[in-house]
Amino acid sequence: NYVPTPQDKFSFGLWTVGWSGNDPFGVATRAPLDPVEAVNRLAELGAHGITFHDDDLIPHGSSESERDAIIKRFKDALATTGLKVPMATTNLFSHPVFKDGGFTANDRDIRRYALRKTMRNIDLAAELGAETYVAWGGREGSESNGSKDVRGALDRMKEAFDLLGEYVTEQGYGLRFAIEPKPNEPRGDILLPTVGHAIAFIDRLERPELFGVNPEVGHEQMAGLNFAHGIAQALWSDKLFHIDLNGQHGTRFDQDLRFGAGDLRAAFWLVDLLETGGYTGPRHFDFKPPRTEDAEGVWESAAGCMRNYLILRERAAAFRADPEVQDALAAARVDELNTPTLAAGETASALLSDASAFEEFDVDAAAARGMAFERLDQLAMDHLMAAR
Ligand code: GCO
Ligand code: MN
Ligand code: MN
Ligand code: MN
Repeated sequence: NYVPTPQDKFSFGLWTVGWSGNDPFGVATRAPLDPVEAVNRLAELGAHGITFHDDDLIPHGSSESERDAIIKRFKDALATTGLKVPMATTNLFSHPVFKDGGFTANDRDIRRYALRKTMRNIDLAAELGAETYVAWGGREGSESNGSKDVRGALDRMKEAFDLLGEYVTEQGYGLRFAIEPKPNEPRGDILLPTVGHAIAFIDRLERPELFGVNPEVGHEQMAGLNFAHGIAQALWSDKLFHIDLNGQHGTRFDQDLRFGAGDLRAAFWLVDLLETGGYTGPRHFDFKPPRTEDAEGVWESAAGCMRNYLILRERAAAFRADPEVQDALAAARVDELNTPTLAAGETASALLSDASAFEEFDVDAAAARGMAFERLDQLAMDHLMAAR
């Protein structure tokens, strides 16, 4: 079992399996991967989709005719395998021109170039049938506070997204945008560092309905945050448009481990939430096969992402179906939280005149009630470790 099929909606970035292992301390350890090989291998493994930055598919500096030939070859491979392109994104971070950002670079001509580069790839994304356009502003930020007027940068970020929202609407593209937060790396401090910052920013846009978030497991964990809590808030706000799944151990550099190979407890609760919380989008892996691996190790690692998701999906479902868990949930009064605190139509003055809520309330007796959360959590761990 645990064999993925396209119905599971697993997708991978071309830059993930295609990463050749260059890091700040060393050069590539693997040969470049042909995008068509990536399409073929991912389809064989049971994935549903492949995603890309413009430059992953079409190297910077390609001529128009080279670009057309690359796109045609890629489309042919998609048609042969049935693999989809559910999402695409723009590389606004690799070329030295983006060293101070794209949409929020201090230099205005660079901002205009970043917009044109993005619009060009949005056209391609729409042509390939993508539904989501991700925006990760890795270079939007600073190393020193005096160098960046953050309020001005947020004005320019809003200007960029308002323009892009208008553009896709005018063109009649069925695309929505998903902003990907990250606290740092490659910039010392990146703008819109967490899911919460991004959701608050989206509220200020002219077409907020076109914008949601693309949270990445490791990015929230780099900020020391509970990823599943962030996802729950994004779902609550109807803003979970896409998700980047991977593994991370605590607050350190962006590890991009395969899904499940980081904080396993967090991964369990995440899968439980995604599977029960109404998320229907792609399960997209944004990981990096470690540079220790050869080509075969890359596909082992990609297969491991999907296998771990499927195992966790099974473990989470077993947890929910266990009568003892249901009993423990009831003992922990988890469901009682969904009962509104006031009765229907009850006003502030009605609450003030309810003596049972205050004057007659037995505070000490209520304080003495145990919450029984440890039993519930141990049952979850038993299921996670397949001890039940
Ligand atoms: C990172 C980011 C990127 C983005 C990708 C999409 O490396 O920190 O996760 O991988 O997800 O660039 O634009
Ligand atoms: Mn990452
Ligand atoms: Mn990502
Ligand atoms: Mn990444």
